[in-house]
Amino acid sequence: MRPAPLPGDDLEGVDTPALLVDAESFDRNLAMMAALAARGGIALRPHAKSHKTPVVAQRQIAAGAVGICCAKLGEAEVMVSGGVADVLITTPVVGRHKLERLARCAHLARMAVVVDSPANLAAVAEAIESAGTSLDVLIEVDVGQNRCGVRSAQEAIALADIAARCPRLTLRGLQGYNGAIQGVPVRATRHDAASASLDILREVAETLRTRGHDVKTLTGGGTGTIAIDIALGGLTESQAGSYIYMDSSYRRLDWEDGAPIPFATSLSVLSTVISRPTRDLAVLDAGWKALSSDAGVPSLAHPWAEEVSFGGDEHLKVRLNADGRALRVGDRVAIIPSHCDTTVNLYDHFVLMRDDRVEQVWPILGRGRSD
Ligand SMILES: Cc1ncc(COP(=O)(O)O)c(C=O)c1O
Repeated sequence: MRPAPLPGDDLEGVDTPALLVDAESFDRNLAMMAALAARGGIALRPHAKSHKTPVVAQRQIAAGAVGICCAKLGEAEVMVSGGVADVLITTPVVGRHKLERLARCAHLARMAVVVDSPANLAAVAEAIESAGTSLDVLIEVDVGQNRCGVRSAQEAIALADIAARCPRLTLRGLQGYNGAIQGVPVRATRHDAASASLDILREVAETLRTRGHDVKTLTGGGTGTIAIDIALGGLTESQAGSYIYMDSSYRRLDWEDGAPIPFATSLSVLSTVISRPTRDLAVLDAGWKALSSDAGVPSLAHPWAEEVSFGGDEHLKVRLNADGRALRVGDRVAIIPSHCDTTVNLYDHFVLMRDDRVEQVWPILGRGRSD
């Protein structure tokens, strides 16, 4: 692991590229989301895939979250070791080795996992039974993303019936997450898509209830739809995650009446100008290996940056207008990632900054834990 700066260091003490978190914006995002969920009467179970860091999860829980979500078992193991007591894994966990690991987590924390196939559910039940522990399961329903999830209420009934026969499993409810609509910039379009997704989820829940199954939790949604999900009703729990950091993709969303999304960008990648080969070009020390590119190029919050493009694994090119001509080799430049989750996964730690000083360094213990 590369050396980390120390609390109290100023920005000069932070080597680049470095993943910075602005403490004020982070705190504001945390409080704003907690208040939004509380006002809306929806439980908040933030998705930890955005930060992969137990200390951040603990802060979310201290602010009122009921627990957290993890995308993968490896991430969940890191959270449980870090003292997080309530974890939902939002992707099916498949294979004997993984199910043994899941059962070990279930000894240590309140665990839940999504399922969408009878064979996997039977294997989960067997692993939990032989470990002598217990586990909650949620049936994942495809609500429009065309990824995992059952495609019909009949399939959900078949899974609920299997779960009901397994004494160590409890059916907690359903998961319906439509990631494809979270980043739709126009609110009305996002609203209609979220409404259609919720209709599917509610209908499956009702069918299960009429068959005698206790479906308490309907979980899903993200930062892009939480306000809409609250207004429409249906979800008991929101899995919003990106709100804590935000990224340039999410910044494009309108919220209410064309107003911008209220969460602030707290995450940036600090970089250094390593070359000024021409009057209008600056080259920064952060390329594809320091910034994810799945959501396009990152951005700079500076009016002098005309155009940003990747220059390779370790280079970012910035075309400057006349106001940027004073930029020199060695200057520091903050870059706003286009996708926070995948950028976070490239770093060993977050550097929490307040008033231009390092306040804390948070190891990203779940980094790379796609297992
Ligand atoms: C299953 C699931 N739930 C919730 C989220 C969080 O969404 P967001 O980061 O947009 O808030 C994600 C993100 O990909 C997800 O995969």
